[in-house]
Parts: sequence; C-alpha cells; structure tokens
Amino acid sequence: MKIFIDSANINDIRTAYDMGAISGVTTNPSIISRENRKFDDIIADVTSIMVDGPIFAEVLSLEADGMIKEGRKLAKISKNIVVKIPMIPEGLKAVKTLSSEGINVCVTVIFSAPQAILAANAGAKYVAPFVGRLDDIGENGLDLAQEIRDIFDAQGITETKIVAASVRHPVHVVELAKMGVDIATMPFKVIMQMAKNPNTENAVKKFLEDWEKVPK
Ligand code: G3P
Repeated sequence: MKIFIDSANINDIRTAYDMGAISGVTTNPSIISRENRKFDDIIADVTSIMVDGPIFAEVLSLEADGMIKEGRKLAKISKNIVVKIPMIPEGLKAVKTLSSEGINVCVTVIFSAPQAILAANAGAKYVAPFVGRLDDIGENGLDLAQEIRDIFDAQGITETKIVAASVRHPVHVVELAKMGVDIATMPFKVIMQMAKNPNTENAVKKFLEDWEKVPK
C-alpha cells in the first residue's frame, strides 16, 4: 500500500519524502488554511519536493462549470497535479469532463459505497473515503473502505484507485493495508507514529550504552 501525506506543511512533506515514506501529497482547503501562506506558494514548494508523485489540490466551486475551470487551471500547474472534486452531483459532471480531457481527478469526501461507484463511473482516477470521520459519528470507517475494495474487486475496477483519507492512527493504516486498499493518506504525525516504537528506541539506547563498555 502506498502512503501519501495529508499535509501542506513543507517541512513535514520534505521530512517524510526524505524518509522514503511517501509517494504523494494530498491537501484540502482546511489543510492549506493551517499554513497561513498563499496557495500558489505552497503548491510551488510542494511540486519542488514531490517531483515524482501525485499532488492533490481541491477545487472550491460548488457548480460544475466553476469546478471545471478551476480544475483546468490547477492541472496546468504541473503534470503531477490531481484535481480533487467533492462528491456532489455537480462534482460528478466536472469529473466526467475533466477526466475526458485527460486530467487526473480524485473524488473526495466519500462516505458511502454508492458514492464510490458513481465516482468510478464518472471517470475518477481516485476515490477518497473518509475513514476517521465515519468513526467520529459512531460508524466504522474501515468497513466502508473494505466495502469499496470488495466492490471494485468484484467489478474488476482497476483504473480507479482507493485513497483512504481521514486516517487517524497506525491501526487504521495496518487494517487498510491488509484489506488491499491502494493508498492511505495521513498526517505527518501518523507517519511518525508508524516509525517509532519504544522497544526500538530502548534497544538502540542500550546498544550505545553497552558499546561504551567495550575496551578502547
Ligand atoms: O484527507 C482528508 C483529511 O484531511 C480529513 O482528515 O482528520 O480532518 O478527518 P480529518
């Protein structure tokens, strides 16, 4: 399973990229707003780091025509840009048009399997079920990811990839990997939680302490 970082923080993106942990970057308007920087400056920096993987940027319009215009503009920034379109009926129109023009589109804020089926039919290259936000309302986000995986497998849908979003902790990541989800996108914090283990840290510390006992 590929891991993407769900962030617009350049330091975090660079660190995760240098660690070899990530092969893509996802953003949304909320993530962009946290950086207190201009969108164009953020995207320019991200494209300079993530030279070999997709960079997801979201449209803001709620009508198809506006989304199409925004999507075309975003796609011109870099060949790596994937246009994120919200899963609303107007959005599906934009997905159909943009994907027919060869622009890669991710349908985002997916909360049900029927939405994922429609998005795939409209030509989405990615569908993004929001795992954690379903957990937040007492449903099971992993069950949705599994349901979409099962449907895509049963239907032989390989051209639309599942990018599980709203991933909150390493157990989410492991379960998504076991079920064969294509990609999980997550905050930098979760990537670091995956990397770290107190036993590893203790073992490394002890090795160094013991090395001090070796006659020099
Ligand atoms: O990629 C979607 C993600 O940014 C939402 O995450 O934790 O705000 O539900 P969260």
